[in-house]
Amino acid sequence: RENVNVGLLGLGTVGTGVVKMIQRQQEQLFHQVGCSVSIKKVLVKNVDKERDVDVDRSLLTTDPYEVINDPEIDVVVEVMGGVEETRRYIIDALQLKKQVVTANKDLIALHGSELQKIAVDNGCDLFYEASVAGGVPIIRGLTEGLASDKIQKMMGIVNGTTNYILTKMSKEGLAYDSVLKEAQDLGFAESDPTSDVEGLDAARKMAILSRLAFSMDIELDDVSVRGMSNVTQEDLKYGNMLGYTMKLIGYAEQEDNRAEVSVQPTFLDNSHPLASVNNEYNAVYVYGEAVGETMFYGPGAGSLPTATSIVSDLLTVVKNMRLGVNGRSVLAPQFSRQLKSADE
Ligand code: NDP
Ligand code: HSE
Repeated sequence: RENVNVGLLGLGTVGTGVVKMIQRQQEQLFHQVGCSVSIKKVLVKNVDKERDVDVDRSLLTTDPYEVINDPEIDVVVEVMGGVEETRRYIIDALQLKKQVVTANKDLIALHGSELQKIAVDNGCDLFYEASVAGGVPIIRGLTEGLASDKIQKMMGIVNGTTNYILTKMSKEGLAYDSVLKEAQDLGFAESDPTSDVEGLDAARKMAILSRLAFSMDIELDDVSVRGMSNVTQEDLKYGNMLGYTMKLIGYAEQEDNRAEVSVQPTFLDNSHPLASVNNEYNAVYVYGEAVGETMFYGPGAGSLPTATSIVSDLLTVVKNMRLGVNGRSVLAPQFSRQLKSADE
């Protein structure tokens, strides 16, 4: 195989970054996987929209099945968002034996186990590094780097939009509404930013991370959630005066085969390493029984940072394809090995 064809579902903030990376880094990609990688078709809502990337208009389509059913497309990259429609497309792609990479935490948090099973049943990969903490390789960190350890606790800033808002409100005294608008303009926020500011986006990410870290069947409903839309300038100001910084913190802990997972605005002592994680940056502190304390840090949202995780997943998929299904170098991250359930 001299070339791998990619079908892209979505060409917004993240999809544009994916196309740019594939276009700009063709030589490096070739060097890593020994073949070229091409975008063959791209699903969009509006083919006439002005785009911040040079894509041949003939590649654009509004029919998802022109992408999914194309026999020459080997890998489907889903960066359109949404749940039900996207779930159908990914199932159909996997059943046609296409490899799938997605950035969609809403989908993975709700249907990850089902999709993973369909992927395995069809001898395919389903990778989703970009679904948590954008450009930070936290899923690989947990499922590969720390795979040998028993993870006991995680504490993280896993939503870039709210961290951006809290940072700007606290450090520059800016008003909530105007900073939210800025985060939307910068492409950090979800199409409906309610899921960012009400903590749901962070809850989805914490559900994904804690399933992987603890090997438990943790559902979204198991995560207790409180957002930050009611936080005021006064809260932040008085916290600052006392030496505290407010962050929207995702917390997950397991003890005696029970897990507790939550998201809520939390005052951190200014000396805490998470207190200095600012703007759209994310960080996840992970405590493992053997390794002790580790921290993963980097840009949690945005076009090229998120695309980095997607294109890295794509490279792993291509490596696996080139080695053949039985010789996979890296298995896609697996949720719960069905060893324990969250309330066992
Ligand atoms: P955008 O809204 O910027 O882009 C969505 C893209 O999908 C657009 O190109 C849109 O087409 C297309 N699209 C959406 N719905 C349909 C549909 N029904 N039919 C055809 N095309 C459709 O989203 P993002 O790029 O910001 O996010 C994409 C995914 O990545 C989401 O799951 C998000 O949660 C996730 N993510 C986002 C991050 C970020 O920083 N933005 C970071 C990590 C993950 P058109 O362009 O024509 O409107
Ligand atoms: N809206 C999300 C955030 C995008 O702000 O973190 C990255 O998942």
